[in-house]
Amino acid sequence: MSDAVFQRCINPTCGGTADRADTSFRCPQCGGLLDVAYDWNKLPVPKSLKHFEGKWANRTNPLDFSGVWRFRELFPFAPDEAIVTIGEGQTLCQRTDAVAAYTGLNAGRLFLQYEGMNPSGSFKDNGMSAAFTHARMTGATRAACASTGNTSASLAIYCAATQLMRGVIFIGSGKISYGKLSQALEHGALTVQIEGDFDDALRRVQEVSRQLGIYLVNSVNPFRLEGQKTIMFRVLEALNWEVPDWIVVPGGNLGNVSSFAKAFGELVDLGLISRVPRLAVINAAGADTFYQLYEKNGLRWNGGQFDQSKIDDYYAGLDANNRKADTLASAIEINRPVNLPKALRAIDRCNGVVRAVPDTEILDAKAKIGAGGLGCEPASAASVAGLRQLVQEKVISPSDSVVCVLTGHVLKDSDETVAYHSADKATFDAKLGKRGVKQVAFANRAVQVPNDLAAIVRAIESHA
Ligand code: F0G
Repeated sequence: MSDAVFQRCINPTCGGTADRADTSFRCPQCGGLLDVAYDWNKLPVPKSLKHFEGKWANRTNPLDFSGVWRFRELFPFAPDEAIVTIGEGQTLCQRTDAVAAYTGLNAGRLFLQYEGMNPSGSFKDNGMSAAFTHARMTGATRAACASTGNTSASLAIYCAATQLMRGVIFIGSGKISYGKLSQALEHGALTVQIEGDFDDALRRVQEVSRQLGIYLVNSVNPFRLEGQKTIMFRVLEALNWEVPDWIVVPGGNLGNVSSFAKAFGELVDLGLISRVPRLAVINAAGADTFYQLYEKNGLRWNGGQFDQSKIDDYYAGLDANNRKADTLASAIEINRPVNLPKALRAIDRCNGVVRAVPDTEILDAKAKIGAGGLGCEPASAASVAGLRQLVQEKVISPSDSVVCVLTGHVLKDSDETVAYHSADKATFDAKLGKRGVKQVAFANRAVQVPNDLAAIVRAIESHA
């Protein structure tokens, strides 16, 4: 297997490669991003996606139970005996007509891919099980990440559940929700709070990992993105292997969009599907680098010859104005997305679009998603807020079939949810008002009543 799997520079004109076991995650020739590449002629590939339906019958094997590894023939970088799984990827793709109506889609056309059901409560476990497997194959004993909270929660849980590695976590100070911080602490990871934000933490963790030889699990690691491909395999499975018209995903470090386009591109190349869906990436307006560069500055993949000076100029402008990412969707509060070039390739491959949505629309969409039956954190709701905007713009038609990815669970950030629904101005202001939210549309206020039976009955009847 080893010579059929290697790492390859994403820039087709560079052509740099690295061994499967290399953990520097930079092209040795040009320093660019790497893909995990396969020589499919040397690997057994299923003839049809229906092949995967049989796996459930074999679910006493943990590799076939896992919603990630039962698709392992589509990212075959690890021998079975090396694979690390904690039962990730048992997630739902749920039709939801109430949320469809909110976005302007026809009934039956919107599906929410609910990745909050993973063991650590976010989509990160898909990629972490793959990165952890690769780390184990390379003999690593420590793994590190910078995080806005979910990667760190995921790393912490894999370290604790497997006892294979020590987790080292870098977070920006005051930049992480308590739900996520509590996971890192509870699962025993070494948690380093540095002065600064996620962009600062990501720069530092790369330096520290290099210096101390610690295995890096951020999404610059291409093995992580191999695991995240399975989110789309499960979407296809739920839709009876029919490709939807659109996939809508929040954009932070731009790992998901990169991974999804790779998944669909490979399935087409392998003859397993006949077309790719279109991709929509949704930034928060306060962290909208990808939107600005792609939609406003005309930055394009251009066969790998993208205009680096546009990116450099944009970042220089951020620095000159001391502009930091600023959004209540803290998971995607990122101004320097590490996978930007891969995301450009993804948008090119899947005829994509990029949008940015303000926090108030994210929070309102989140409340609608919750009222529709699936609870998600703010960053996830950017997908639905973005879909609504794209329907209004007529980029997406009401009859298109659309899957929005809900990346993290509602309990990740309960403080924001309580503040949104609160009737108490101080509670609202402390979390939302001071960050610029003036008014919300769908608050479900708690009803205050005296401890008196008749008053309680009256309160219930008047709201029924
Ligand atoms: N949604 C959630 C809930 C996230 O936690 C993240 C990223 C994203 C969306 C963005 O995904 O990077 O693939 O574009 N969270 C990272 C973290 C940065 O550290 O947990 P992306």
